[in-house]
Amino acid sequence: MLTANEIKRKVGEQAAELVQPGMTVGIGTGSTAYWLVMALGEKVRQGLDIRCVPTSRETAKLASEQQIPLIALNDAAVIDITIDGADEIDPQGQLIKGGGGALLQEKMVAAASRQLVIIADHTKLVKQLGVFPLPVEVIPFGWKQVQRHIEALYSIKSILRTKDDQPLVTDHGHYILDCHFNQIADAPALNIALNTIPGVVDNGLFIKMATCTIIGYPDGSVKES
Ligand code: 5RP
Repeated sequence: MLTANEIKRKVGEQAAELVQPGMTVGIGTGSTAYWLVMALGEKVRQGLDIRCVPTSRETAKLASEQQIPLIALNDAAVIDITIDGADEIDPQGQLIKGGGGALLQEKMVAAASRQLVIIADHTKLVKQLGVFPLPVEVIPFGWKQVQRHIEALYSIKSILRTKDDQPLVTDHGHYILDCHFNQIADAPALNIALNTIPGVVDNGLFIKMATCTIIGYPDGSVKES
């Protein structure tokens, strides 16, 4: 039986095989995407000609250490493929992302991509989204107002994400409210509704964005769909 980390490594390495010479590649954030970056680094050092758009500062640092050429999203006319992890994946391929706090940049890179390949272990598969708290990225100014608005509208609790007892500040200078919906019946509607609340920058629902999922299991099998 494979450990969780071995499964992540397997799907990360399998996804790296999808990357072809000359491609512009969006590279995700998190412990599964870590293995993708390591595999791509190995290929680059062996001569694979690619350029990558990182989805966070953390990934940019890791990729630089691996000698992977990086470009900014502004300098990428099109991204051929983005490969990233997820926190929850439902049967329609709808996702919750942002557990690592990089949801805004991840969504922007994914939206600019021809394909979004999601790599994950089987524990991320769910029948319905919502048990994983939905990250909502908010402007720090008046964030409590936004929190009250969301909690009243949906009768839910949310928690300001912190680090070292201080509000966690995202790569783009925002805060994150982790919203405990428990069950999200209509993810497309919620995605739109949340993003119309003044002060909300974006949320971790990725609707109709994933084009492929690569899911690893403890017995070593991998299912691509
Ligand atoms: C970061 C993300 C990650 O892709 C998501 O949290 C999954 O991470 P991991 O592969 O470590 O489980 O959305 O913002």
